[in-house]
Amino acid sequence: MKKIIFICILIVLTVLALAFAQERGVKKKRPLPQDYGKTVINNFSEKSRMAPVVFDHWLHRSRFTCRLCHSDIGFEMKAGATGIKAEDNINGFYCGTCHNGKRVFDNKAVFRACDKGKRDEVCDRCHSLGKDVKRENNFSEFVAKMPKERFGNGMDWEQAEKENLIKPIDFIEDVSVRKKAMPIQKDFTLETKVSGLPEIIFSHQKHTVWNGCEICHPDIFTGVKKGSTKYSMIEIFDGKFCGVCHGKVAFPNMDCQRCHAKPVS
Ligand code: HEC
Ligand code: HEC
Ligand code: HEC
Ligand code: HEC
Ligand code: HEC
Ligand code: HEC
Repeated sequence: MKKIIFICILIVLTVLALAFAQERGVKKKRPLPQDYGKTVINNFSEKSRMAPVVFDHWLHRSRFTCRLCHSDIGFEMKAGATGIKAEDNINGFYCGTCHNGKRVFDNKAVFRACDKGKRDEVCDRCHSLGKDVKRENNFSEFVAKMPKERFGNGMDWEQAEKENLIKPIDFIEDVSVRKKAMPIQKDFTLETKVSGLPEIIFSHQKHTVWNGCEICHPDIFTGVKKGSTKYSMIEIFDGKFCGVCHGKVAFPNMDCQRCHAKPVS
């Protein structure tokens, strides 16, 4: 009986959420698995008669942690918000931290980012929106080897990391600072305001692998006391709190049961 009630609640809420999204004008067609986490950066490119930059999260997160880029290197977690300039890349910041033609990963030097004046086919690898640029890293081949999931990139990143199928790098020489690891908090459950809805199990352990502590505290969750940050599902759908990552790069909010996981007792 409880299960039926829960399913009814879910259906009603999904409809509400979609209506809400539509009203805000953010309802989009569900992206293809390879386009989930694709970020277009275009503050300056078109103004300089270059194609906008396409950045793929799937490729980069298969090799690096979120923390490395969003804390050590300093990218904002919002498309365009960093204000990356060609100059910064040339001077070894942002994309140029790795894309400098010298830094080696997997025995291969990463191709360099922007250059003054000179324009060649290397530019097109990043300044690629609307162009038919062939990717060297093939999404389908990569995902074929990974545990499957229904939404997002169509694969389970959590499981892939756990099974050591990917080993995201969390440290880059000259960029990251070695810190003493903070003690990791125990997993806890978050209760929802609606009774009968499964509680949410939040795992600090699993999140810390990708995010360290500093991405979430204090920017996304100020209170380091459980329950001190108040938020609702609507705000999550709107891209706040858990929704900063879930819905854009980490598995999307349509996957209700992955968060509302604890069975009703
Ligand atoms: C190689 C570096 C890199 C890695 C690794 C990385 N990101 Fe990003 N991320 C970026 C860049 C670059 C942007 C765009 C910033 C800008 O345009 O100013 C971005 C943007 C985002 C955005 C905003 C997207 C949007 O459409 O507004 C989110 C959310 C995000 N990242 C989450 C994550 C999460 C979660 C992970 C780990 C699973 C991760 N990122 C891993 C570099 C990275
Ligand atoms: C932490 C290191 C790192 C940072 C920072 C980084 N990348 Fe990369 N990127 C890599 C590596 C490693 C590869 C794979 C090397 C290759 O394919 O030659 C790669 C590959 C790529 C590719 C090639 C895709 C393909 O399959 O042909 C593009 C495009 C790209 N990055 C864009 C960007 C952009 C744009 C930024 C900045 C917004 C950025 N990257 C920041 C490490 C990084
Ligand atoms: C590794 C990825 C990458 C490669 C390769 C790359 N760029 Fe960029 N470039 C960027 C990013 C990211 C931006 C910021 C995009 C924006 O906001 O419009 C940018 C911006 C620019 C701009 C905008 C003006 C400015 O001052 O910021 C110019 C011009 C530019 N790049 C030139 C080049 C040229 C020329 C090449 C080839 C020699 C090149 N880029 C290759 C990532 C790259
Ligand atoms: C993905 C985001 C995320 C990451 C990463 C993260 N936390 Fe948290 N943390 C939370 C949330 C959500 C809460 C609950 C806050 C609330 O309900 O207001 C929390 C609560 C806490 C609390 C209070 C626990 C309690 O029982 O009251 C502490 C202490 C804490 N975090 C420390 C850390 C440390 C140390 C790390 C790194 C090892 C870390 N957090 C990484 C999201 C995160
Ligand atoms: C800073 C980004 C970020 C924030 C904020 C965040 N997550 Fe996550 N979460 C991730 C990433 C990355 C994963 C790995 C799986 C993936 O990418 O799909 C993950 C995985 C999970 C998982 C699966 C882990 C498991 O137990 O199998 C759950 C459940 C989850 N998050 C719930 C939450 C909840 C609830 C919140 C808010 C209280 C939250 N997350 C906030 C980035 C984030
Ligand atoms: C990324 C994790 C995550 C996903 C995915 C998720 N939820 Fe939630 N949800 C939460 C958290 C965390 C809360 C608790 C907020 C609080 O009260 O502290 C919550 C609360 C709720 C509530 C209680 C009312 C409210 O606004 O707080 C409802 C109802 C709900 N979610 C429905 C859904 C439905 C339906 C879906 C799927 C379409 C869904 N959730 C997907 C994390 C998630």
